[in-house]
Amino acid sequence: MSTGYHEAGLSQKTQNIHRAIASLQEELEAVDWYNQRADVTEDAELKAVLEHNRNEEIEHAGMLLEYLRRNMSEFDEQLSTYLFSTLPITQIEEAEEGGENDAPGDVSSSGLGIGKMD
Ligand SMILES: [Fe+2]
Repeated sequence: MSTGYHEAGLSQKTQNIHRAIASLQEELEAVDWYNQRADVTEDAELKAVLEHNRNEEIEHAGMLLEYLRRNMSEFDEQLSTYLFSTLPITQIEEAEEGGENDAPGDVSSSGLGIGKMD
Protein backbone atom coordinates (compact mmCIF):
# COMPACT_ATOMS: atom_id res chain seq x y z
CA MET A 1 0.00 0.00 0.00
CA SER A 2 1.42 3.35 -0.99
CA THR A 3 1.80 5.94 1.72
CA GLY A 4 2.45 8.80 -0.65
CA TYR A 5 5.63 9.65 1.24
CA HIS A 6 8.69 10.52 -0.78
CA GLU A 7 11.37 9.70 1.79
CA ALA A 8 11.86 6.90 4.27
CA GLY A 9 12.35 7.54 7.97
CA LEU A 10 10.18 10.61 8.24
CA SER A 11 9.23 11.80 11.71
CA GLN A 12 5.62 11.52 12.83
CA LYS A 13 5.35 15.29 12.66
CA THR A 14 6.57 15.41 9.07
CA GLN A 15 4.24 12.58 8.11
CA ASN A 16 1.31 14.49 9.56
CA ILE A 17 2.39 17.68 7.79
CA HIS A 18 2.51 15.66 4.56
CA ARG A 19 -0.99 14.33 5.19
CA ALA A 20 -2.31 17.83 5.75
CA ILE A 21 -0.55 19.27 2.68
CA ALA A 22 -1.74 16.41 0.46
CA SER A 23 -5.27 16.87 1.77
CA LEU A 24 -5.10 20.63 1.20
CA GLN A 25 -4.00 20.03 -2.38
CA GLU A 26 -6.98 17.74 -2.89
CA GLU A 27 -9.42 20.19 -1.33
CA LEU A 28 -8.16 23.04 -3.52
CA GLU A 29 -8.36 20.84 -6.58
CA ALA A 30 -11.97 20.04 -5.69
CA VAL A 31 -12.73 23.75 -5.23
CA ASP A 32 -11.42 24.40 -8.72
CA TRP A 33 -13.37 21.55 -10.29
CA TYR A 34 -16.67 22.53 -8.65
CA ASN A 35 -16.11 26.17 -9.48
CA GLN A 36 -15.51 25.44 -13.15
CA ARG A 37 -18.48 23.07 -13.45
CA ALA A 38 -20.80 25.50 -11.68
CA ASP A 39 -19.66 28.20 -14.04
CA VAL A 40 -20.64 26.36 -17.21
CA THR A 41 -23.71 24.29 -16.35
CA GLU A 42 -26.99 25.59 -17.72
CA ASP A 43 -28.95 23.64 -15.08
CA ALA A 44 -29.75 26.02 -12.21
CA GLU A 45 -30.34 23.26 -9.66
CA LEU A 46 -27.06 21.55 -10.50
CA LYS A 47 -25.31 24.91 -10.38
CA ALA A 48 -26.61 25.48 -6.86
CA VAL A 49 -25.43 22.05 -5.73
CA LEU A 50 -22.00 22.52 -7.28
CA GLU A 51 -21.61 25.95 -5.68
CA HIS A 52 -22.67 24.53 -2.32
CA ASN A 53 -20.13 21.73 -2.63
CA ARG A 54 -17.41 24.16 -3.76
CA ASN A 55 -18.01 26.24 -0.64
CA GLU A 56 -17.81 23.14 1.56
CA GLU A 57 -14.43 22.35 0.02
CA ILE A 58 -13.27 25.89 0.76
CA GLU A 59 -14.21 25.27 4.41
CA HIS A 60 -12.21 22.05 4.38
CA ALA A 61 -9.23 23.81 2.83
CA GLY A 62 -9.41 26.51 5.48
CA MET A 63 -9.39 23.95 8.26
CA LEU A 64 -6.31 22.26 6.83
CA LEU A 65 -4.54 25.57 6.36
CA GLU A 66 -5.18 26.38 10.00
CA TYR A 67 -3.77 22.97 11.00
CA LEU A 68 -0.63 23.76 9.02
CA ARG A 69 -0.38 27.21 10.60
CA ARG A 70 -0.60 25.70 14.06
CA ASN A 71 1.91 22.96 13.34
CA MET A 72 4.50 24.58 11.09
CA SER A 73 5.91 27.88 12.28
CA GLU A 74 6.86 28.98 8.76
CA PHE A 75 3.20 28.85 7.75
CA ASP A 76 2.28 30.87 10.81
CA GLU A 77 4.88 33.50 9.98
CA GLN A 78 3.91 33.88 6.33
CA LEU A 79 0.16 33.70 6.82
CA SER A 80 0.38 36.23 9.64
CA THR A 81 2.17 38.53 7.24
CA TYR A 82 -0.05 38.19 4.20
CA LEU A 83 -3.57 37.13 5.16
CA PHE A 84 -6.21 39.78 5.79
CA SER A 85 -3.79 42.55 4.82
CA THR A 86 -4.81 45.59 2.85
CA LEU A 87 -1.61 46.82 1.23
CA PRO A 88 -0.87 45.70 -2.33
CA ILE A 89 0.37 42.13 -1.88
CA THR A 90 3.76 42.73 -3.44
CA GLN A 91 4.43 45.62 -1.04
CA ILE A 92 3.66 43.81 2.21
CA GLU A 93 7.06 42.20 2.75
CA GLU A 94 8.88 45.42 1.99
CA ALA A 95 6.60 47.42 4.28
CA GLU A 96 7.06 44.93 7.12
CA GLU A 97 10.84 44.95 6.75
CA GLY A 98 10.85 48.74 6.73
CA GLY A 99 8.62 48.92 9.75
CA GLU A 100 9.44 52.56 10.38
CA ASN A 101 5.95 53.84 9.72
CA ASP A 102 3.58 52.39 12.26
CA ALA A 103 0.86 54.92 11.74
CA PRO A 104 -2.70 53.64 11.90
CA GLY A 105 -3.44 51.60 8.83
CA ASP A 106 0.22 50.93 8.16
CA VAL A 107 2.10 47.72 8.68
CA SER A 108 2.93 47.13 12.31
CA SER A 109 4.70 44.44 14.25
CA SER A 110 1.32 43.12 15.33
CA GLY A 111 0.51 41.80 11.89
CA LEU A 112 -0.09 44.73 9.57
CA GLY A 113 -2.13 46.61 12.15
CA ILE A 114 -5.29 44.86 11.18
CA GLY A 115 -7.53 42.33 12.76
CA LYS A 116 -8.08 44.29 15.94
CA MET A 117 -11.72 44.56 16.75
CA ASP A 118 -11.55 47.40 19.26
FE1 LIG B 1 -13.49 18.32 1.16
